[in-house]
Amino acid sequence: MTTQQLAITAFGDVHCLQLQSVEIPAPEGRQVLIDVAYSGVNPIDAKTRAGLGWAAQQNRDKLPWVPGYDVAGVIAAVGEEVTEWSAGQRVCGFIGFPLQGGGYSTQVLAEADSLSPVPDGVPLAEAAALPLAGQTAWQALEKASVQAGERVLILAGAGGVGHLAIQLACHKGAEVVASCSADNQDFVSSLGAQAVDYQKGELAAQLQAVDVLIDLVGGEIGVAALSCVKPGGRVVTVPTITAESVTAAAKVIGLHAQGMLVSPSVAQNDQMLAMMAEGDLTVLITEQFPLVLGAEAHRQIETGRTRGKIVLVMKD
Ligand SMILES: NC(=O)c1ccc[n+]([C@@H]2O[C@H](COP(=O)([O-])OP(=O)(O)OC[C@H]3O[C@@H](n4cnc5c(N)ncnc54)[C@H](OP(=O)(O)O)[C@@H]3O)[C@@H](O)[C@H]2O)c1
Repeated sequence: MTTQQLAITAFGDVHCLQLQSVEIPAPEGRQVLIDVAYSGVNPIDAKTRAGLGWAAQQNRDKLPWVPGYDVAGVIAAVGEEVTEWSAGQRVCGFIGFPLQGGGYSTQVLAEADSLSPVPDGVPLAEAAALPLAGQTAWQALEKASVQAGERVLILAGAGGVGHLAIQLACHKGAEVVASCSADNQDFVSSLGAQAVDYQKGELAAQLQAVDVLIDLVGGEIGVAALSCVKPGGRVVTVPTITAESVTAAAKVIGLHAQGMLVSPSVAQNDQMLAMMAEGDLTVLITEQFPLVLGAEAHRQIETGRTRGKIVLVMKD
């Protein structure tokens, strides 16, 4: 069967995303062939398309390159060494990270060990939006050793990672404050956080000091938010491009600060899917774009103002 993919043909603007048709070989060994229903869109996809970051550097001689690390769909076939999966099962996963990608595709080959079963009751669109953002949120809170009863400030609480980080931090018993624009105050409050409007002025003037800062914005905004953290408090700054400047500024004022790079974890994905099935974790999808309109999806994610998540839909 011919597979449709959206590939980066050169580094540049959204026009560098082009549809291509390929024949995907049958799965071998521990591979699984997935009929992809939805692929999650993340800021790293657009940054790589623009030629920024490590994945772009590593793939610059391998164009056209298919972005996308988040997929959900149905297994079409399995390799001869795969016994735990069979055709017809609903799965999702954080695949090919960071060098291979491949999710913006109607079919994809994935390693059997990279997949999670999608529980009944969890829509595939939400399962596709979860892996990268959810595991980033999970690992950022873990890196910061967030404990029950601690006050945690999450910058960009309305975004893909932020809206999941709020819920996971609340689940740990933390008292969560999250920054967002006026338009997202109700949304962020509905997730269990105290919403703080960053457009109203300095955050430090609007809230009591926190034990932990989870910075999902980075740069000058991340640095400015350091003044919200108690002496000796902890900071995890997630955007990699500005991590050094934020951690350096934090260390100058005696905070324990770290950057991070998300690492795929099936165990974490499984736990979050179970929470979704129980109604304890909600993934908000604000917009679905057909694969052919992937350029529009990139325009949207590049605004930096997406509420929750957006996904690509493979079938019309
Ligand atoms: N290191 C890693 O492994 C890793 C993994 C995943 C993501 N990341 C990075 O982490 C960042 C967040 O990712 P994401 O997927 O959550 O991005 P996203 O979904 O695009 O975030 C969009 C959100 O950011 C909010 N926002 C924009 N400016 C803000 C500001 N000044 N203060 C507070 N909120 C603001 C917007 O809310 P308003 O409209 O209300 O402003 C919007 O809801 C990105 O830079 C991404 O590349 C890194």
